[in-house]
Amino acid sequence: MMIHGHGGNIFAAATALGCAPEDITDMSANINPLGPMPGLLHHLAENIHGVCRLPEVDAGQAAAAFADFEDMDRSGVIAGAGTTEFLYLLPRAANISAAVVVGPTYADYADALAINGVKHEFFMRHDSQGFSIDPDRLKTAAKGADAVFLCNPNNPTGGYTDTDLLTDLARALPDTVFVMDESYLPFVSGHGEKSLAHADLPNVVVLRSLSKMYCIPGLRVGFCAAPKGLAQTIRNHCPPWSVNAQAQQAVIFIAQNQDTAGKHEEKTRQYLKDQRAVIHRRLAGVPGLRVHDSDATFILLQARHFTAADVAGRMLEHRLLIRNCENFKGLDSRFFRISIKDPDTNVKAADLIAGYARERAQTAGRENA
Ligand SMILES: Cc1ncc(COP(=O)(O)O)c(C=O)c1O
Repeated sequence: MMIHGHGGNIFAAATALGCAPEDITDMSANINPLGPMPGLLHHLAENIHGVCRLPEVDAGQAAAAFADFEDMDRSGVIAGAGTTEFLYLLPRAANISAAVVVGPTYADYADALAINGVKHEFFMRHDSQGFSIDPDRLKTAAKGADAVFLCNPNNPTGGYTDTDLLTDLARALPDTVFVMDESYLPFVSGHGEKSLAHADLPNVVVLRSLSKMYCIPGLRVGFCAAPKGLAQTIRNHCPPWSVNAQAQQAVIFIAQNQDTAGKHEEKTRQYLKDQRAVIHRRLAGVPGLRVHDSDATFILLQARHFTAADVAGRMLEHRLLIRNCENFKGLDSRFFRISIKDPDTNVKAADLIAGYARERAQTAGRENA
């Protein structure tokens, strides 16, 4: 099992500090800082007896509810144990034998391909171009590949790639399946029209997670939206009962309370926009520090005079766990990621980072004098 590509292990950090995991603020996990939508946890608690029965074997009702909620074609939507389940079964289901991963990105695409014995290469975007995609370069790199794995907005760089650019790419390479991980797309304003699931492309598979926006990573539920024929093949590869009873309940609750869910999403988007701006303002002009633009729940930072491990150690002294991004292929030891939390924590984290960067820039200046 590929469990080593993930960062921010709060349990290990707590053991190292000799404290409880609850005493550490986890700024390494990218979930909605406002928490689950109102009423959801209460509903699950009230329906806990549901775990005494087998849930629907293919979570068909939950899949249909999600499809309606997102205005997607029901026949192409499948529910799974998080998007992770689809990442690991897609190489087999879609018969992929050569793939391109658009990096630097979430490690599980390459891990899932490797575990399935699929040959894969990375197409890297670079910090010098703000991690944007050069479509012509990607078209050339992906020629002949069975699949391209792409995350939008991308983890860990944070940027959103325009839907039109991605649509053109998918059209230009009709024999290549584009696996679009849209786990963070609900954090982008107007995400409904931006999803490639609405583009009606025969070679696009969209993945959507409920873990992030709905702050329920422990429930394990996500979706795959694929063209009809491929959707049926993917369904045939899904194990029975992979979406548990509580997870199915959660999806149906969200869909039945569409207004509340929509308001929660909107409030989250506004909150994140405001808080990202606060962090950007506090870090503006700090020497030796670059703050990358983000449309998601997290921000990627790049240091000149210190490493991610250095700053992570300093932050942990203040019980803040951040994500050292050096194990993302295509990044290096200077990159780290913080996820947005409550306003006080965001300010505290930004000020600690700014203070540390200034300190190290001064030392570097003295050493170079
Ligand atoms: C880009 C991306 N895709 C997928 C996942 C996994 O999500 P899920 O909980 O739906 O399996 C993560 C989790 O961090 C992620 O960052």
